[in-house]
Amino acid sequence: QFLSELVADKSAHPGDDMLSEIVRASEDGDSLSSTEVTAMAFLLLVAGHETTVNLIGNGMLALLRDPDQHARLRADPDRVPQAVEEFLRYDGPVNLATIRFTDESVEYSGVTIPAGEVVLVSLIGANRDPGRYPDPQRFDPDRDTSGHLAFGYGIHHCLGAPLAR
Ligand code: HEM
Repeated sequence: QFLSELVADKSAHPGDDMLSEIVRASEDGDSLSSTEVTAMAFLLLVAGHETTVNLIGNGMLALLRDPDQHARLRADPDRVPQAVEEFLRYDGPVNLATIRFTDESVEYSGVTIPAGEVVLVSLIGANRDPGRYPDPQRFDPDRDTSGHLAFGYGIHHCLGAPLAR
C-alpha cells in the first residue's frame, strides 16, 4: 500500500528520482501498468536492500572470525574487491536461484528430471563445490573465485550485481 501510494504520488508530482523515471517510462511507452510499477519498486527494494545488508553482515562475520585476514585487508584495501568476491562465494546472502522449470527432459548427474518440473538450484551448494573450489569451507580472499553463482546465472543473472559489488 505504501508503494502504490508512492507510485500514484510520483505520477502526480514527478521528481528527479528513480521511481519517477520508471513512472515516466511507463506513461511514455504505455508499457507498465501502475501495478507493475509498484511490483518493480517492491522488487528493487527487497532484491536490492535485503541482499546487500546480509552480504555485508556475513562478510563482517567472516572477518571477525579470521583476525589475520581482517588485519591483512585493513593494511591493503586494494584487496577489498577480491575479498568481496570471496564474501559472495563463501557466504552469499541468496541461498536459491529464482525458480526454473524444465521445458524438456534433462539428464543431470545420472538423474533424469522430466519436462515440466520445478527446479531449485542451490547457489550456496554450488559455491562450495569441492570440485570447483579446493577446501571450499575455508574463507580465503586470495583464492580464484571465478564462476561463483552468488548472483545467479544466465538470463536472470542479478540485475543489480554491478551496483551491489
Ligand atoms: C549482494 C547483493 C545481491 C545479491 C547476492 C543478489 C543476488 C541475486 C540472485 C541470486 C538473483 C537470482 C538470479 C538467478 O536466479 O539466476 C538476483 C536477481 C535479481 N536481483 Fe539481485 N542480488 C543482489 C543485489 C541486488 C541489487 C542491489 C539489485 C537492484 C538494485 C538487485 C536486483 C535484482 C533483480 C531485479 C533480480 C531479478 C532478475 C531477473 O529475474 O531477471 N539485486 N539477485
